Amino acid sequence: MAEHEAEKILQIEDLHTYYGRSHIIQGLSMDVNRLEAVSILGRNGVGKTTTLRSILGLTPPRKGKIRINGEDTTRWPPHKVVRKGIGYVPAERHIFPGISVEENLKLAAKPSGEEEAWSMEKVYSHFPVLKTRNRQDGSTLSGGEQQMLAIGRALMGNPVIMLLDEPSQGLAPLLVYEVIQPILLFCLQSGLTLLLVEQNHRMALKVASRHYLMGIKGKVAQTATSDQLMADQDIIKQHLAV
Ligand SMILES: Nc1ncnc2c1ncn2[C@@H]1O[C@H](COP(=O)(O)OP(=O)(O)OP(=O)(O)O)[C@@H](O)[C@H]1O
Ligand SMILES: [Mg+2]
Repeated sequence: MAEHEAEKILQIEDLHTYYGRSHIIQGLSMDVNRLEAVSILGRNGVGKTTTLRSILGLTPPRKGKIRINGEDTTRWPPHKVVRKGIGYVPAERHIFPGISVEENLKLAAKPSGEEEAWSMEKVYSHFPVLKTRNRQDGSTLSGGEQQMLAIGRALMGNPVIMLLDEPSQGLAPLLVYEVIQPILLFCLQSGLTLLLVEQNHRMALKVASRHYLMGIKGKVAQTATSDQLMADQDIIKQHLAV
């Protein structure tokens, strides 16, 4: 492997993904470097979730290439992709019903020899409210608590890259800026790589340093750094409903 490729934890090249005959992603290319946070910004329906589902193998692409850590994972089944160290926080959160908060976390645990590894106690130290509710059925938590549980559960797998689908969706600004944003920044500082799908560009600009603006036909219309986006609000207006 060439040295410059070793830094790339995720590479997507000319991706094409369909639902039946509906051609959603039409030639998407992007990459994420190790220890970097990158966002995908775009309006409703442009294909942000479909991009994450393609990476995870949930909706395999028909054409194009996906590489994780330099290995070609295109069309791998999801369980195999996840074993490469991918954590996923889906937009719908998918908290397992009928089992407690604690069991939701336990089920996701993947032991790691690392000193900094995630454990239930470490998740509780970031989200104390989950500890006070540890015996409660996870599906009966409030929306904000479920989002914390979904993030905590992904972290229990000790991933190397975490894919988050609109983690701020439906949450009060206070929760977004005082709970969700800090945990993402903490993850980043402690060595995790993040791919963040967002419509809340305010949070995305704070967490991620590079942004892929997705336009119609599931293509990247433009890439920009946070500094560029802050300096030119027109780009945001063009690509996001603000
Ligand atoms: N299972 C499916 N079957 C058919 N079409 C689908 C399916 N899932 C999504 N689509 C269509 O694919 C397009 C992209 O959807 P996707 O969910 O990826 O968009 P998105 O950018 O995540 O939007 P949002 O911001 O609303 O979450 C939409 O037009 C949607 O209707
Ligand atoms: Mg979506």
